[in-house]
Amino acid sequence: QPVGPFDLVVFGATGDLAQRKVLPALYRRFRAGQISESAQIIGAARAQMDAPAFRAQVAGGIAAHVPADQQDADSLARFLGRVFFCPIDASSDRGWKALVTRIRPAVGHVYYFSVGPELFGDLARQLYAHGIADPACRIVVEKPFGHDLASARQLNATLARHFEERQIFRIDHYLGKETVQNLMAVRFGNMLFEPLWKAQYVDHIQITVAESGGVAGRGDYYDRAGAMRDMVQNHMMQLLCLIAMEPPHCFDADALRDEKLKVIRALEPVQPGDIVRGQYTAGERPGYAEDAAVGNSDTESFIALKVKISNWRWKGTPFYLRTGKRLKARSSEVAITFRDPPHSIFGKQPGQRSNVLVIRLQPNEGIKLKVTVKEPGPGGMRLVEVPLDMSFARALGSAHVLPDAYERLIMDLLRGDQTLFMRGDEVEAAWAWTDPVIAAWQDGPAPDLYAPGSAGPEAAMELMRRDRRRWREIK
Ligand code: BG6
Repeated sequence: QPVGPFDLVVFGATGDLAQRKVLPALYRRFRAGQISESAQIIGAARAQMDAPAFRAQVAGGIAAHVPADQQDADSLARFLGRVFFCPIDASSDRGWKALVTRIRPAVGHVYYFSVGPELFGDLARQLYAHGIADPACRIVVEKPFGHDLASARQLNATLARHFEERQIFRIDHYLGKETVQNLMAVRFGNMLFEPLWKAQYVDHIQITVAESGGVAGRGDYYDRAGAMRDMVQNHMMQLLCLIAMEPPHCFDADALRDEKLKVIRALEPVQPGDIVRGQYTAGERPGYAEDAAVGNSDTESFIALKVKISNWRWKGTPFYLRTGKRLKARSSEVAITFRDPPHSIFGKQPGQRSNVLVIRLQPNEGIKLKVTVKEPGPGGMRLVEVPLDMSFARALGSAHVLPDAYERLIMDLLRGDQTLFMRGDEVEAAWAWTDPVIAAWQDGPAPDLYAPGSAGPEAAMELMRRDRRRWREIK
């Protein structure tokens, strides 16, 4: 069923994110029949261009970012027929009258702030001043939502001046990923796992988000952020929350977000010795400083940390998080290692390993459970570990093309469902935990160097070794 008629204004419409993610996602949902032919998608940006020029740009973005078998000329022409453009300046009155005229009073209004956070305040004010910030409208903001707790609080306060929390949709695109939502389906849709999902049965949990790409082209932003602000404060924190939270009483926005918030609040401060920061060196391709186009920089492109949660469920079970650029492979997974059986009736058996449940987030999305079985043959009771391996693509068939995270989130936004968006207090709590971690290394040593294509700095291996554990291989 298509969502009801709406006018969606994308501010920053000529920018990279809008062209690469937002507009292609809208096209795909339009083609799938979920967006009605009467919708208006209005690009707004400082650029002085007309609608045909903007449509040409949008078509270029779609051609480049939507798989060829998911585009066709007919739907593209119909989609572009619903696309308009208003040159606009967030900090002056230029262009606003034209936008007000274009917006239809009787349909839903969504304002997508695909711009830097420094413009959020101006946009909110202008929408209000021009009378188009009606109580039913929604606004969408992208990460980074602030740079620290103080700036995030300020942004929340700025938005709260003109909008209620129910109108504000803060995107963390990891929540739109199918397999991230699958974390919840696996936990709460099966009886098998949840009873064991606690410190008593879980030895430790590893969350890895490894990337093979570097920071070229984004150095200006990245060098001010680093891996901690770019990935841990948001995406990895969300993964951690979904794994660690108590079962919400229903799958509803506030029920879910209340439980996530409790996890963030229960995080212990990270000890300086439990953090490893790294920066990639040059190999066949340039190293971090050249990629980021900065001189000397102490910004981390890799981080590994041991995180503890102070509550009944998790006391005594550490979570190890690592993420980095220019690593061996693009590979993200959550691995839950269970404790050994309390007593082995088979004596010492080299083939017996701990059970591990691996949820692969990308690529090759799927679930793998390592179990111990008897080695076949007459050689007596010899144990061996085998994987129960389920690839979603194989098990569910190709009819289930995994939609891009933005498609899911944009449809939820158009339907007004905030479940997969972050609430203001959640973002602030995440910064409240992140800020002291960052402050603690300010006067500390520079990040450890690591070779491109490796698994990160040696010190990250040591972080595990000293706890008699090992990172899983990145592959
Ligand atoms: C973004 C970060 O939020 O997420 C990038 O700013 C990172 O640095 C990206 O590369 C990773 O997203 P994905 O969907 O490719 O895993």
